Amino acid sequence: MAESKVALKIIPGELAVQGVSKSYGATRFRKEVVHDCSFTIERAKLTVMVGPSGCGKSTLIRLLAGFEQPSAGRISLDGAPITGPDRDRLVLFQETALFPWMTTWDNILYGPRARGELTRDALEFGEFLLAKVGLQDFRDKYPGQLSGGMQRRAELARAMINNPKVMILDEQYYSRLYEENRRTNFFVTTDIDEAVFLADRVLVMSNIPTQVRAVIDVDLPRPRKLSDLVESDRANDIKKQALSILHAEAMRSFSRGSKAAADFVEAYLKRASRA
Ligand SMILES: Nc1ncnc2c1ncn2[C@@H]1O[C@H](COP(=O)(O)OP(=O)(O)O)[C@@H](O)[C@H]1O
Ligand SMILES: [Mg+2]
Repeated sequence: MAESKVALKIIPGELAVQGVSKSYGATRFRKEVVHDCSFTIERAKLTVMVGPSGCGKSTLIRLLAGFEQPSAGRISLDGAPITGPDRDRLVLFQETALFPWMTTWDNILYGPRARGELTRDALEFGEFLLAKVGLQDFRDKYPGQLSGGMQRRAELARAMINNPKVMILDEQYYSRLYEENRRTNFFVTTDIDEAVFLADRVLVMSNIPTQVRAVIDVDLPRPRKLSDLVESDRANDIKKQALSILHAEAMRSFSRGSKAAADFVEAYLKRASRA
């Protein structure tokens, strides 16, 4: 997102995830979703995480957002531990979070209004964002009257008005929303083509409990065009590297699945023979 005429100083942050694990459930039924996971979301870069569906990506995002705490390890923003949600980290989840009883315009102004900071600059910046996401004609409409894509854009504007240090998006329609900016960006996707197209760095994740399997620097020139990337040997190398890891992970979970199935059949047969 470009800056508005309203002077806006972007102060990008750096997130560090160090030895983070996350489990859910009581002791006997405990399920580990994230296991000893470490990575850095570098300042003023776009890092894209790709991983199999269900590996724990959204769980990591809830931890980065501060909605949940890790079971072990540490997450920090510019060295300060994350203790809860804060407007310095913009997080857009898969589900919409617009207030259904507020118009587009009131949703966008929510942050400054809640803080009692509805200044002329804030209003002007709100106007800029409304235009930027192409919703001028929908200013007085309610979320229920907007398409899914429009809701996304309204949500983005509502978050950008708070001038966050880090922008974290969980499986969104990024390419439509993303413009190069000087913020720290962290996107999550299951689509390797999208990852290579957008990212400065790609984190390739393992199956559940998730860990970083590879960090790949996407040293492709910008601005990028999808048509150029199809022809680029480097882009294809990166894609191949990521895909071979994701393929190995799929095979691993498949063999684990069949082991579980085999164990189940064996246990069942034992019980049946006892009966
Ligand atoms: N609050 C929770 N309690 C129990 N299990 C959870 C909870 N949140 C997530 N999980 C489990 O963690 C796994 C990974 O989920 P998620 O992080 O949504 O994966 P992804 O976003 O990569 O698809 C799922 O199998 C889910 O069952
Ligand atoms: Mg998810």
